[in-house]
Amino acid sequence: MTAEFVRLDVADGVGTIRLDRAKAMNAISIQVQDELTLAAAEATDRSDVRAVVVWGGEKVFAAGNDVKEMSDMSYTDMVDRVQRLQDAVNSVARIPKPVVAAVNGYALGGGCELALAADVRFAADNAVLGQPEVLLGIIPGAGGTQRLPRLVGPSKAKDLLYTGRFVKAEEALALGLVDRVLPAADVYAEAVAWASRFATAAPYALRAIKECVDRGLELDLESGLQIERHSFSAIFATEDSRTGMRSFIENGPGKATFEGR
Ligand code: CAA
Repeated sequence: MTAEFVRLDVADGVGTIRLDRAKAMNAISIQVQDELTLAAAEATDRSDVRAVVVWGGEKVFAAGNDVKEMSDMSYTDMVDRVQRLQDAVNSVARIPKPVVAAVNGYALGGGCELALAADVRFAADNAVLGQPEVLLGIIPGAGGTQRLPRLVGPSKAKDLLYTGRFVKAEEALALGLVDRVLPAADVYAEAVAWASRFATAAPYALRAIKECVDRGLELDLESGLQIERHSFSAIFATEDSRTGMRSFIENGPGKATFEGR
């Protein structure tokens, strides 16, 4: 399938998953969902992609799932489709590499849920986030009722989910919904700069950290610590662990050149 609305651009170790459906404010149609899944799989598989930026361009991140398309769908249509809708966002959440969402303009509904699937979110000072599904008489279906409360806590999440209100960048920062607010023209470059830090990092250590954090958050502390124990032991099987510790002893901290093995 040739992707029409979502592509992966790769430069200097950083992959940008770029949503590009400008005429519809990057609305996440079924086609966009399937293209997102493919782009996330490519970002996962390619060894020249060491970290990922998710970006919708300078004007809008994504105004949500495609309401015009959804309005014709029945209960059974959605039963048949909803797993793949979630798979699209989950496929981004499960990229085993650092992922940053660079949010210019609106990130609403499924757009906000896509941003929530990243590890961190950088927002433009003109960014507007929210989960307005309730105003359509529906609920978030791409992880919003689950990832939002895990990120900002249940009461702040319920306020946003119940009211569907829009949140501007500074409030999103105060809520913990985004991590940095930047001038609109700088958001993408700053996200790429953050991702670039990992272009020469030890990829299997990053992967293990992400897995420990994400899986551990779903579990009780002792089960999470058990995952960490296994991952910590396993990382000693990588060549990078040899290289990193040897380099520290010989040359001091932060000077290792990792092979990614
Ligand atoms: N789906 C389909 N089309 C959309 C869209 C969406 N989510 N958001 C915007 N558009 C379309 C508009 O219909 C309009 O199309 P036309 O030019 O053909 O009329 C075009 O994009 C521009 O939109 P507006 O004229 O409304 O532009 P605006 O600047 O006045 O407002 C906006 C922008 C605040 C984003 C407003 O369009 C809006 O509120 N959009 C819908 C947001 C929303 O409800 N998102 C949640 C979707 S449901 C969901 O995502 C479910 C889920 O959890 C999986």
